[in-house]
Amino acid sequence: MKIAFVGKGGAGKTTVSTLFAQHLAETQNVLAIDADINMHMAEMYSLSYDKDRTISEKQPSEDIRTYLRGSNRRILSNNHFKKSTPPGSGSRLISVTDQSDWFMQTYARRVTDSLSTVVVGTYSEDGIASSCYHNNLAILENVLSHTIDDGTVVVDMVAGTDAFASTLFAQFDALFFVAEPTTRSLAVYKQYEVLAEKGGVGDRLHVIGNKVESDDDRVFIEQTSGKRVVSVLSRSMHILAVDKGQEKLNVSRLRDAERQALEDVMRCADEHRMSSQERLPKLWALHKTYVSQAFIKERFGDLTDQIDRSFTYPQI
Ligand SMILES: Nc1ncnc2c1ncn2[C@@H]1O[C@H](COP(=O)(O)OP(=O)(O)OP(=O)(O)O)[C@@H](O)[C@H]1O
Ligand SMILES: [Mg+2]
Repeated sequence: MKIAFVGKGGAGKTTVSTLFAQHLAETQNVLAIDADINMHMAEMYSLSYDKDRTISEKQPSEDIRTYLRGSNRRILSNNHFKKSTPPGSGSRLISVTDQSDWFMQTYARRVTDSLSTVVVGTYSEDGIASSCYHNNLAILENVLSHTIDDGTVVVDMVAGTDAFASTLFAQFDALFFVAEPTTRSLAVYKQYEVLAEKGGVGDRLHVIGNKVESDDDRVFIEQTSGKRVVSVLSRSMHILAVDKGQEKLNVSRLRDAERQALEDVMRCADEHRMSSQERLPKLWALHKTYVSQAFIKERFGDLTDQIDRSFTYPQI
């Protein structure tokens, strides 16, 4: 299953997604991906920055594309491997539970036996002028579309609607919008909602209330968003202690109600579980639209033939 946490800056995406990943990892294998420009997740796990494992860096992203392409003849070169390029016959796939998986061994860092993390990365120095964070997220899309369904992938997404307005959002079973009970947070929700509807994934966008102090707060979020919240997290003593540097973020330190909130998120994700195979036609459609743009057609020709309709993901 693939799950993303989105929302306005500072709403609690990193905190909630990290706790959620830890919670899940008690019962299953989890890959937590830090797709935030500020890369806070690694900090949560006291992992130092490691350029060689940062997947949007030039060499790692080249190596990953070369690996995933495998012997797929529909992808002529890494330059032809677009963010929306789907896996096809000959492509290599990623397994987050296979200890010998090349991608996991090369780029993931183990936090516990069942929890690993991967960092997408921030602006690279040579990319500052010429590219935006969008481009960094292309490699994340490649990784997600080439990952089989044998574990759970939890992504802490960069704030802002930019990343959302791409083919990326179609890769997830569920997108959880972390909402604070504020007008500004919910104004961002409304923007996401429009984009999700446009992208045909409106039914995969859910709302989690965070830093909710009272029932009034919850009602405010529901009335303003027009959506029932799937889960509510209050202001947590543990998280406040983490902010003061007195504790390390650890799901076992949460109170029962906070644990229950994470369980509610899981239940919602489970209800919307979709196999990669079921998602594939959507990816094909988005790929078709993406590569039909003039700037791609002029440079690379017709990339719609990268779609391999006979391709199937392995059944888990
Ligand atoms: N339930 C909570 N209770 C108390 N503090 C919280 C809670 N959730 C988040 N916070 C605090 O709010 C701040 C922002 O949280 P966090 O960094 O997780 O947000 P974010 O959405 O990832 O932000 P950014 O957009 O900057 O990446 C942090 O100081 C965090 O400790
Ligand atoms: Mg964050």
